[in-house]
Amino acid sequence: MKKDILTLWDLTPEDFKYLFERAIQLKSEKKNGVFSNILSGRTLGLVFDKPSTRTRISFEAAMAQMGGTPIFINTRDSQISRNEPVRDTARVLSRYLDALVIRTFSQDLLIEFAEFSSIPVINALTDLYHPCQVLSDLMTVIELKGGYRGFKIAWIGDGNNVAHSWINAAAILGFHLELACPKGYTPNEKILKRAMASGKGTIRTSEDPIAVAKDAGVIYTDVWASMGQEREHAFRKKTFKPYCVDEELISHASTDVTVMHCLPAHRGEEIGEAVLEGPHSAVWDQSENKLHMHKAILETLIR
Ligand code: CP
Ligand code: NVA
Repeated sequence: MKKDILTLWDLTPEDFKYLFERAIQLKSEKKNGVFSNILSGRTLGLVFDKPSTRTRISFEAAMAQMGGTPIFINTRDSQISRNEPVRDTARVLSRYLDALVIRTFSQDLLIEFAEFSSIPVINALTDLYHPCQVLSDLMTVIELKGGYRGFKIAWIGDGNNVAHSWINAAAILGFHLELACPKGYTPNEKILKRAMASGKGTIRTSEDPIAVAKDAGVIYTDVWASMGQEREHAFRKKTFKPYCVDEELISHASTDVTVMHCLPAHRGEEIGEAVLEGPHSAVWDQSENKLHMHKAILETLIR
């Protein structure tokens, strides 16, 4: 496996397969009360420039449950906030830590961090991607549906960072992904082009949420305004109204549709309360699987 996970393109299909299998194994070991101290004496730094509940805590818990120590670094409290160059911070942190998990705005800043770090750098969300989210989501799809092929995975809503990582995954692993996004909120053209050029998977975009939801085996949605877009929220709420994943929309999907959301959710906006809390919802399993997948990632990259 490569040193860093900056986008899902850093992983081969074999890497995906290994991480899915290992995360599922670690989940079962935890259920049976089996923990290894494989990362004893190792230290993980978590540099977060945006809020987080799931990603931060699951990475911290993953590290602790494997015998290692997580250190949370709020950028506001570090010299990063006083413009110490990334290349200096990266080289210094590499002398103290065994891996870095970074959540920030700019993908370029993350790339610079990785370039100047001698330790693995893991993307915990940027404006452009959320690769670890989609790894644990695919693990959930495998658990619930036995795999990720043979049915349509539908993305309904904003063509955002999580959508981009789904597009990458479809291109690398070869599955059927359709995205319904309002005009002006479609995924990044360059990301789509690269994915489509891979010749693997079927990736289609449309403005029609009903057509995309039709016969889908998985429906995925996410917030309409991502972190950093708060000021656009009121405007986006109007534009995205027809894209709410509610009972009416999921009635067009396969009868055994699995509904997913990376959370945090806004009930009554991108997802209806009855769907989020209903029998098709996989959101709590999805959240749990972040812990197991993050363990698999840390174990693999740090050792
Ligand atoms: N899904 C996810 O990344 O959640 P957090 O923002 O709480 O980490
Ligand atoms: N697209 C969302 C995902 C949150 C986990 C955001 O970037 O805010």
